[in-house]
Amino acid sequence: MREPGRFICGKQPRTRIQVKGRLPTGNLQKPFGWPPSSPFVHLDEVRPHPPLKARYETLADKPDYVNRLFDKGACHYDGIVDWGFFRTGGAYRKWVQERHGLKKGDRVLDVACGTGLVALAASRILGTAENITCLDPSEGMLAVARTKLNATFVVGRAEALPFPDNSFDFLTMGYALRHVTDLEETFREYQRVLKPGGRLLILEVTKPRGRIPRFMFRTYFGRIYPTLTQLFTRSADARDMMRYYWETMDACVPPEAVLSALATVGLSEVNRYTQLGLFSEYTATKPSPSKGCDPSPRHA
Ligand SMILES: C[S@@+](CC[C@H](N)C(=O)[O-])C[C@H]1O[C@@H](n2cnc3c(N)ncnc32)[C@H](O)[C@@H]1O
Repeated sequence: MREPGRFICGKQPRTRIQVKGRLPTGNLQKPFGWPPSSPFVHLDEVRPHPPLKARYETLADKPDYVNRLFDKGACHYDGIVDWGFFRTGGAYRKWVQERHGLKKGDRVLDVACGTGLVALAASRILGTAENITCLDPSEGMLAVARTKLNATFVVGRAEALPFPDNSFDFLTMGYALRHVTDLEETFREYQRVLKPGGRLLILEVTKPRGRIPRFMFRTYFGRIYPTLTQLFTRSADARDMMRYYWETMDACVPPEAVLSALATVGLSEVNRYTQLGLFSEYTATKPSPSKGCDPSPRHA
């Protein structure tokens, strides 16, 4: 069996951050430098970003707002991500899942499947889509996904997964972490539905740290990408979806907060790999009882 974190293609990640053990959210002030009173930490919640007041009033309004956005933009999504990421999306989604241990026979849950891009790449590795379950709250996105693969499709949200405990060998989430309301609640669900020894892979685009990379990132995702989207699709809804894409990336918690939340719920082997300093691959494993760990979620 492949060792977690090893690459089959021989390429090494630019950055790898490993979190060992549990980092309670109460300690966030010290290691990560953003205080518990910050908009990211609200009582027991760890938000991926503070509410975007220009978009919706309160956190409670966020799910409906996001749902409408993706429903309206669904028919444009594939085209936009295809040229926007220079036609690398399909190959990258397959490559990253192979590298992080997806193998034939695995039962897979693709959370926030959208139009099915991650699930489609997984089906190419598995040789079939019959063991893949795709979940998304947007009927519009699911309607596009259903045309592509013969998987099981479920309307639902990451924060409340409609599946029994210990159901899946491999759980993926592609570019949707910013859309959940609470990171820990979401990761507790991932921990619950994964089988002991099961692997989690979360893909994200993360704002780079340096001043110049940050400027280039802001210019591309904040201005060029939404403008070209409008130009190519002639759809204000598609432009708005990509503008929101940028706003959530800009406001997103730092990677350390994601790693901390993953470790807090009791997942082990929590890692972050990055490609080009932009593409984050968060990985974790649900501990096996045979290794002497308690697989049940731990609460801070
Ligand atoms: C940017 S798309 C990502 C689609 C696909 N995973 C990919 O790799 O291209 C984000 C998706 O997250 C979904 N989403 C939004 N909020 C969600 C939630 N709370 N739980 C699960 N999925 C959610 C949206 O409906 C949308 O389809």
